[in-house]
Amino acid sequence: HADAAYVGWLGYRHLESEELLKSGVTWCGRVVVAEDGEVIGSAVAELMNGIESMLGIRPASSGISDGDYCIALGTFEGGNELVARTFDVATQAAIGPEGYAIRTNSEAGCIAIGASTAAGILYGVFHFLRLLGTGSTSDLESLELAENPKNGLRMINQWDNIDGSIERGYAGKSIFYLNNEITNNTERVRDYARLLASTGVNAISINNVNVHHYETMFLTDKYLPDVARLADVFRAYGIKLFLSINFASPIEIGGLSTADPLDPGVREWWVAITKQVYAAIPDFGGFLVKADSENRPGPFTYDRDHADGANMLAEALLPHGGVVIWRCFVYNCKQDWRDRSTDRARAAYDHFTPQDGRFHDNVILQIKNGPMDFQVREPVSPLFGAMESTNQMIEFQITQEYTGQQRHLCYLVPQWKEALDFETYAKEEASSVKNIINGSAYGRRYGGIAAVSNIGDDENWTGHLLAQANLYGYGRLAWDTEISAEAIAEEWARLTFGGEERLVRTIVSMLMESLSIYESYTAPLGVGWMVNPGHHYGPDVDGYEYSKWGTYHFADCHGIGVDRTVQSGTGYAGQYMGSNAYVYGSVERCPDELLLFFHHVPYTHVLHSGSTVIQHIYDSRFDGAERAEQLREDWNGLEGTLDDGLHRQVAERLKEQAEHAREWRDRMNTYFYRKSGIADKLGRKIY
Ligand code: GCU
Repeated sequence: HADAAYVGWLGYRHLESEELLKSGVTWCGRVVVAEDGEVIGSAVAELMNGIESMLGIRPASSGISDGDYCIALGTFEGGNELVARTFDVATQAAIGPEGYAIRTNSEAGCIAIGASTAAGILYGVFHFLRLLGTGSTSDLESLELAENPKNGLRMINQWDNIDGSIERGYAGKSIFYLNNEITNNTERVRDYARLLASTGVNAISINNVNVHHYETMFLTDKYLPDVARLADVFRAYGIKLFLSINFASPIEIGGLSTADPLDPGVREWWVAITKQVYAAIPDFGGFLVKADSENRPGPFTYDRDHADGANMLAEALLPHGGVVIWRCFVYNCKQDWRDRSTDRARAAYDHFTPQDGRFHDNVILQIKNGPMDFQVREPVSPLFGAMESTNQMIEFQITQEYTGQQRHLCYLVPQWKEALDFETYAKEEASSVKNIINGSAYGRRYGGIAAVSNIGDDENWTGHLLAQANLYGYGRLAWDTEISAEAIAEEWARLTFGGEERLVRTIVSMLMESLSIYESYTAPLGVGWMVNPGHHYGPDVDGYEYSKWGTYHFADCHGIGVDRTVQSGTGYAGQYMGSNAYVYGSVERCPDELLLFFHHVPYTHVLHSGSTVIQHIYDSRFDGAERAEQLREDWNGLEGTLDDGLHRQVAERLKEQAEHAREWRDRMNTYFYRKSGIADKLGRKIY
């Protein structure tokens, strides 16, 4: 498949640096590998293709060296003598199950990629190819590096439905399903697996968390053989397959009259069906569960709680080594807007913290990054770190539901990094979110990151070509939470577009600016939700103001924002630990960017920036719309420095974004001018 948008960052462009090319040709003429197996096979194939494409030589391959320079691949104990010789005992011992070491051994005439498992070799190969592709080394004479992933679970959640639609998908139809069947086009699924594995992703749930009629039957003979076929495809790239399940399955497909998690018949039913799944997919990952959330069935129906529900499934999975991923997106979605005492932001914490210690060890709670729902700006969920005896993982949304739906440019890695770096104060030290979810803070065995995918069957996968950076960036960040958002953007730009400096610099700066631009013309100061109900695209300030979803901004003629303080509001700010509670709870200390999330203030309230709230509302909209226009001009200036087709598809999206940013600007400004009656200090046009 030659299409540049389709191959994405795995295009393996011919190297531009003469020096690296020369060094590459010297070292990469032969690949020595002594083991076989599916994952090693994938690693070798990737390596061969990557080398051929970047260096223009097809390496020979053999089980032993012929004395010439070579790349040697293998597990430390896998019988490749070059690998065993290259890494000392200490290095070998430091490499965990999915880690790898790469080292140039001049004496032995090889570059060795060693690991303790086949998956580690695959990741090592992708790292080596990335080194070449980004030109981040000038030659290969002295490579010496070792990496282990920071997170155990690095997962993608597909929200795909069997009818081929994708919930919150903005890049076409599903690549997995069509007309109530599982696809036969495993070539595309395989290409997706390659993209994911190259970034370090090791798990995928293949169906929507809202599990409907047919998808409930994925566990049965009707679909299980086809699900197993998909598992085969992912397995070859080190990726474990999970299924989202319907909590009411015992009723819907089991013919039972109840799904009560404490009912012995129900428990037996889950044990039996889980066994059946493992018979078809021996390395099946486990179940992802959305229960008692947005009208989905769950244990509440039977007066049971989340731990009862999750533990029932955990017991069925335990003998097979599987895990239950139980989502914490639980809140009252039938709230009366007149009810000022219920606060959706509080819900996850209120539901789950009392159950700390009750979940089995193979249960992981999956918590959205913020307490609401993937807004452009939210505080970090206070649930992180608040359950010492429970496994926790974080959930991000790569698909841009509230961040421009892949029609607007919005590089999300900086947002995710902020969440991961957030200090929870759960412990004296090392209790930032990343240390909670990777298990280190409380010594938990399971943890990690999941994110909702942004791909569909569009030729370029993500609708907006530049939104590929979010998929790439997610995987890289899940592997290594320490890499900077900018470094990730640069890697991606170089791999995707080549190394021309102006091109790379422009794309990186566009990506790095994009989140703040989007935030500024849509929902600054942490307020959120001013979107059209249902599909969530485009401005509608009061779209959710009188709805049942618990998402209000309370703007009136005097002021705006939600009082979530302990003193006079919903008390949400008090769910945080240490100085977070103190900072968020105080109108003076709360950072500007979250002010309206935590406080209701008059339009004349003066921000830390020195501006008033109303003036900030105007300024940020004018500024955001102008910067969106600038994005478009920056991109237009690149015409001729990259493939015309690629240039054109992004130019079209940026044009639409600039227009929509003006719509946001004018709708917001007019609304708040009418509400407040306060004029813009700079006298700009407000309609
Ligand atoms: C959001 C989204 C839904 C989704 C839900 C979830 O509310 O709009 O489509 O089902 O999140 O995460 O479960």
